[in-house]
Amino acid sequence: MLNHSSHPYYLKQGKTQDKARLLKFMELTYEELFPEQSNFEHLSTTIEQYLSSKTPLWWIEYQPNHETKSDIVAGLWMGTGVDQVNGDRYGHIFLIYVKPNHRRQGLATALIQQGQQWVQEQGYHQMGLQVFERNQAARNLYNKLGFSPQSYLMFKSWDMKE
Ligand SMILES: CC(C)(COP(=O)(O)OP(=O)(O)OC[C@H]1O[C@@H](n2cnc3c(N)ncnc32)[C@H](O)[C@@H]1OP(=O)(O)O)[C@@H](O)C(=O)NCCC(=O)NCCS
Repeated sequence: MLNHSSHPYYLKQGKTQDKARLLKFMELTYEELFPEQSNFEHLSTTIEQYLSSKTPLWWIEYQPNHETKSDIVAGLWMGTGVDQVNGDRYGHIFLIYVKPNHRRQGLATALIQQGQQWVQEQGYHQMGLQVFERNQAARNLYNKLGFSPQSYLMFKSWDMKE
């Protein structure tokens, strides 16, 4: 059980079979950030390509009482990347999602702490992630947990002629 004053939240390790739930959480993340975008078919390809025992998952289960069915309300998917400056491997956050009714209670913080423990167990000394500029909630979360920006990802786009 997570160290939480009033609600019964349980942290558990996910499995490589949890593809459908991971896909749902990835879709919810992108739908929330980009409501104008409707096609997220590419996300299942990403999961097929990268989900393995080397890219662990954790879920937070919510069970208010024994009569109520439990619900998975938050998730974290981690992997690794290579720092292009020094060649060192680092832990990379692929996905973090908390269902809206369960936010601002420290669940994302607890998941990232779990992720950091895994990264340290791998012998890596850094973790990183990509966050969209418009995602102020997530940027605040990462700032609070000690992450700081290291680069800007820049795009230029144009309309394609028919
Ligand atoms: C971003 C997200 C994961 C945060 O989850 P959470 O469980 O609410 O986060 P926590 O409760 O651990 O918050 C820790 C700190 O982050 C910051 N924070 C979190 N949500 C915030 C918000 N909506 N507005 C401003 N700051 C926020 C605060 O500093 C907060 O500390 P405080 O509550 O003591 O002020 C959640 O809003 C979410 O799932 N969003 C949609 C998916 C997403 O954007 N994922 C990140 C992709 S990079």
